[in-house]
Amino acid sequence: MEIYIDPDIRKATTLPSTFYKSQSIYEQLLEEILVPSWQFVGDSGLLPELSYAYPFLLFEDSVDEPLMLVRDKEDTIHCLSNVCTHRGMFLIDKPGKYRLLSCKYHGRCFNMNGKFRSMPEFQSTENFPTEMDDLIALKLGVLGDFLFTSLAPNLDFEMVFKPMLDRMSWFPFKDLVYNEEGSHIYDIKTHWALYCDNYLEGFHVPFVHPGLNQSLDYKEYDTELFDYCNLQLGVASEGADTFDLPSDSQDYGKGIFAYYWWVFPNMMFNFYTWGISVNIVEPVDINNTRVVFKTYLFKDERAKGFSKKDIHDTELEDEEVVERVHLGLRSRLYKHGRFSPTKEKGVHQFHRLLAQALNNKRT
Ligand code: FES
Ligand SMILES: [Fe+2]
Repeated sequence: MEIYIDPDIRKATTLPSTFYKSQSIYEQLLEEILVPSWQFVGDSGLLPELSYAYPFLLFEDSVDEPLMLVRDKEDTIHCLSNVCTHRGMFLIDKPGKYRLLSCKYHGRCFNMNGKFRSMPEFQSTENFPTEMDDLIALKLGVLGDFLFTSLAPNLDFEMVFKPMLDRMSWFPFKDLVYNEEGSHIYDIKTHWALYCDNYLEGFHVPFVHPGLNQSLDYKEYDTELFDYCNLQLGVASEGADTFDLPSDSQDYGKGIFAYYWWVFPNMMFNFYTWGISVNIVEPVDINNTRVVFKTYLFKDERAKGFSKKDIHDTELEDEEVVERVHLGLRSRLYKHGRFSPTKEKGVHQFHRLLAQALNNKRT
């Protein structure tokens, strides 16, 4: 199905409801958009010591790619396939310190950097070992302590993240620490792209988030677009907490309550005066989405401004609307909508990027 989203938001229609209901489009989104995209894996605290490995599934329940992060004994971090190159056994099951990565099936061993090391009973195997017998190493993107990878990157990591890094260059990333208690996983009955649609506009804030709305100056709230990310600048209302910005920040002089960054296709980095809330939107199936909220707080008293309840209440308000939109889109009568040129620039950009990637050409 060819999907066309007019580049002129004033003329464009939103993605058709069939987009969210088609199993084949859902699978195409996984393969052509999520698999090649950069994905947040976690922070370097997952690897607390040298020679430490941390296994995980990338896009658990949908793509289910077995990977691992490894800090080798030289303190270099790798992202490796967690599948043995002999006959495909899962290599390691739990995080921990390892001397070698050894396969429990027939004893193949790999060094902690993924290079093949040894294998019994292969002395007469010809042309062995070759590079194909090493564990596949994926590219690693690093942003402060945050680690990213991609199964088949079609975009340069720096290019995707540069607008956020430039704008937030003053932000003290090094003062952050992961906070388990403030983190949460939400299971939501909706298509993953609908969750992103909702995040990408502040239009609904006065209608859906009465609490949050008290902290934001709705008139000043704006969305700035970049190639593969966008920023919703949450200007504070009177009395709300604001960043103490350095004079070389382009936002110096403004009272900023929050920077809401979205990075294509499914990542959100919300910068607050108390730290960062990272939200990763993971498809489970066409009707179910898991959203992983990871909270990083400043190590000092600045973290006091964090309220898990505020974040949680806002999230439940969002969940209620996205689940109802998911049901609404099942209507046989609704086909698609139109955009507010002032308030839905971010949603329009997302729909354009999705259509562009699916059609594999510029729209
Ligand atoms: S599958 Fe790993 S050694 Fe055979
Ligand atoms: Fe919301």
